[in-house]
Amino acid sequence: MEKMTVRDIDVSSKRVLVRVDFNVPLDEKTGAITDDTRIREALPTIKYLIDRGARVILCSHLGQPKGKVVDSLRMTPIGERLTKLLDKRVAVAPDCIGPEVEKAAAKLGKGDIMLLENLRFHAQEEQNDPAFAQKLAKLADVYVDDAFGTAHRAHASTAGVARYLPAVSGLLMEKELQNLGGILTSPARPFAALTGGAKVSDKIDMLQNIMGKVDAILVGGGMAATFLKAKSYEVGQSLIEEDKVDLTGKLMDTMQNKGVRCLLPVDVLVAERIEAGAGTEIVPVDKIPKQLRIVDIGPKTIENFSNELKRCKTIFWNGPMGIYEIPQFAEGTKRLATLLAGLKATTVIGGGSTADAVTDMKLADKMTFVSTGGGASLTFLSGKPLPGVEALQDKKK
Ligand code: 3PG
Repeated sequence: MEKMTVRDIDVSSKRVLVRVDFNVPLDEKTGAITDDTRIREALPTIKYLIDRGARVILCSHLGQPKGKVVDSLRMTPIGERLTKLLDKRVAVAPDCIGPEVEKAAAKLGKGDIMLLENLRFHAQEEQNDPAFAQKLAKLADVYVDDAFGTAHRAHASTAGVARYLPAVSGLLMEKELQNLGGILTSPARPFAALTGGAKVSDKIDMLQNIMGKVDAILVGGGMAATFLKAKSYEVGQSLIEEDKVDLTGKLMDTMQNKGVRCLLPVDVLVAERIEAGAGTEIVPVDKIPKQLRIVDIGPKTIENFSNELKRCKTIFWNGPMGIYEIPQFAEGTKRLATLLAGLKATTVIGGGSTADAVTDMKLADKMTFVSTGGGASLTFLSGKPLPGVEALQDKKK
């Protein structure tokens, strides 16, 4: 069911609590924001509200402080970045609930904006505690959820609060649901899923759900080792998920029965250690040395995957092809990202590390859509309900 959005309600003069996902990466040493995509992606909703004279109260989590105040996870750098991006002062509140915050929220003028302190400084946030949700709700007249990246979490600020306020989606949330929903409901064929990353277990539900809709599934990254093992290849020191080998084998049988082409690596880059400067070699998958591990797909595999992807009209990509953070092991990810960026096909990039890779390569704006949600986009494509979306009001027919 389609959800109501900020466009469907009157927001002028209203105090609007907006859940955003400002869980952005920070430099370990300096604490500086290293990628502000998630902040920029929330700007359309924020500007929409400011332009209509709403009193905007933004809230988000940052990292995993586990119910304690962690100074390095304060929202201060985010408030500063927002102030710059909006060219408008965004004050950061000392907390996200309580009398002082209530006072500050009540004082907001039309078009003013404030940012609450990290929601996860309170354990009740992740516990979806009703009393905590009520305290958040007390700050506002209306709730807007624009945090697609956190929509797979049933937390107080994503699901609980919607019980106490009129609740609608923001413009980013709407865009995410439309783009990801589009590839599930009406993908132009041929449709391929390019999947990688470390673990098969993260992807199995998604692969099962899209099985009936895709023409091909291409598997790279660390998870390819479990697929290869299920085909009885020896994978050396590569990490495999032993308890998922049978399931992976069954998954491939289902693909075959449904006529879905399954492309696995035919050659791989192997190394002794996952470390810059480690010695590497390219080997066919039936000759992986016992003492080495897979760190990237090989050139023949890149060619096979490229040929398959070039004939597709829709491509969903989730998961790097190798350990792309180490430049030596990034060739597969880089070559396929560059290929996708040049195709006329609809290219949808799952969030998390795949989005980071295309953003690092400055290719994000060459893709049809790059999701801001890692876990959330996988959950959505697995066909499971997102608590943060379920909680919102349905659009009237
Ligand atoms: C994310 O980065 O995937 C979201 O912000 C959710 O964060 P979490 O995995 O810590 O709940």
